[in-house]
Amino acid sequence: MMWKDSLSIGIPEIDKQHKELCDRIDALFEACSKGKGRNEITNTMDFLESYTIKHFSDEEKLQLKIKYPNYTQHKAIHDNFLKQVSELKEELNKTGPTIAMVGKINQLIAMWLVNHIKAVDTELVKYVNQ
Ligand SMILES: [Fe+2]
Repeated sequence: MMWKDSLSIGIPEIDKQHKELCDRIDALFEACSKGKGRNEITNTMDFLESYTIKHFSDEEKLQLKIKYPNYTQHKAIHDNFLKQVSELKEELNKTGPTIAMVGKINQLIAMWLVNHIKAVDTELVKYVNQ
């Protein structure tokens, strides 16, 4: 399980969306490990991509609202991640859930997200409470 309460940054709406992302990544791993049909894996990946777009857009709106000073850098990090997700999706469509592909999902999506929450998103709370 990816989600842990220690990943909460203290902004309930953002925490809820982070948990949903973690749960969906878990579901993607489960589908891969059970060798489920390519359709199910593609559907989960599609959901993950569209939900990430929604989540980043909500988070960026909040950043503007609270006058977060690192908005531009943070948005660039989000945009770069979205590019990686769509590239990974294309690759998954071509190769299917190979062991190498599952490893890439783990590194580029799961580990990225946990690091991003811990290192970058936690900063937001400082500005929310000002
Ligand atoms: Fe973020």
